[in-house]
Amino acid sequence: MKSILVTGGCGFIGTNFIRFLFDLPDEHFIVVNVDKLTYAANPENLADISHKYSDRYFFEKADICDFPKISNLIDKYEVDTIIHFAAESHVDRSIVGPSDFIRTNVFGTFTLLEVVRQRIEKGKSIRFHHVSTDEVYGSLGPTGYFYESSPYNPRSPYSASKAASDHLVRSYFATYGIPITISICSNNYGPYQFPEKLIPLMILSMLEGKELPVYGDGKNIRDWLYVMDHCSAVWLILNKGKIGETYNIGGENEWENIRLVEYLCELVARRTNVPSNRYKSLIRFVMDRPGHDRRYAINCDKIKTELGWKPTVIFEKGLEMTVDWYLNNLDWLNKVRSGEYIKWIEINYGNRL
Ligand code: NAD
Ligand code: DAU
Repeated sequence: MKSILVTGGCGFIGTNFIRFLFDLPDEHFIVVNVDKLTYAANPENLADISHKYSDRYFFEKADICDFPKISNLIDKYEVDTIIHFAAESHVDRSIVGPSDFIRTNVFGTFTLLEVVRQRIEKGKSIRFHHVSTDEVYGSLGPTGYFYESSPYNPRSPYSASKAASDHLVRSYFATYGIPITISICSNNYGPYQFPEKLIPLMILSMLEGKELPVYGDGKNIRDWLYVMDHCSAVWLILNKGKIGETYNIGGENEWENIRLVEYLCELVARRTNVPSNRYKSLIRFVMDRPGHDRRYAINCDKIKTELGWKPTVIFEKGLEMTVDWYLNNLDWLNKVRSGEYIKWIEINYGNRL
């Protein structure tokens, strides 16, 4: 039986990934979710999994920068696979306060690698999959794509910290032979995303009648991928990917921000029986994000041709599912913003904090 340690499993992608794992047919593994529970985390996301698979799912509140704790957990659960999602993930926050980003994204990744190195030196193999972002490649003009061979050119403290962690991971493969793979993904969307990111922020603001802030001229472009398609790609890389390799993952789905926000206005309007112009009238062009990358576009031919992956969720359909999820989970939205989920953590995990 595999013993998989997932870092950051109470965040957006980590939650979806753990749900994806427990939906797989005929798989037998244990999953250890290691999460520090920052503002972006909500362990309640996995309450049903925790209940249903109490013999195979374990939550451990821990900081990935804590070497002794992580080391103990690796031994306690006889971990043979690490899938590393934990990070400070929001670009705007990294501009206001970069230090947590350097600590968790760089030092945290380094700490995990050191724990693995110690085991490798004792003859124990631990597979390490590192989840990274297309932001490491920098900003594109109107044409062209990011390839796995594209040079790194990070332009925010967030992307610089992710780039540093990617380099560390590759160096531990070259130097110590740690069996690593890296995936580099474009913008994810879907359920459980913290409402500071564009799509959930816009949905929530519409529902509350608040202004919809669009940075700059709104013509920045992002390549959107449904989160479960990201999860299936990571799982495939883990099972069939070549050790030491990096795989781009993208939606082949470029949208200008303003077009996306207007489209969301129409979608939420249909679902809430409100004229779409009421939501569109809330759009405000606001001061641009410093260093705002103009365009991201991922070429993911490598994972498609070598591993047979492809995105399956059409954007318009995925957005509908996402809007519906948020509309049906207003409680979740209110909890993650109000701090009520922090109380839930104390009640449910109080004796382990
Ligand atoms: P998120 O902010 O929603 O979740 C991050 C999780 O990591 C949270 O649960 C948080 O509590 C945990 N965490 C933070 N610091 C920690 C620490 N020191 N120790 C243990 N846990 C800690 O992030 P996300 O959007 O789910 O992103 C997950 C990963 O995917 C990140 O590495 C991010 O860089 C990468 N990524 C995200 C996207 C995207 O569109 N969201 C795209 C490409 C890559
Ligand atoms: O590309 C992958 C990255 O996607 C991940 O590595 C990051 O963790 C994730 O946060 C995301 O980064 P972005 O900066 O692209 O996502 P965000 O949702 O913050 O912004 C998406 C676009 O929308 C970006 O061009 C900035 C713009 N924006 C964002 C917000 C929050 C606005 O115009 N208004 C807003 O209020």
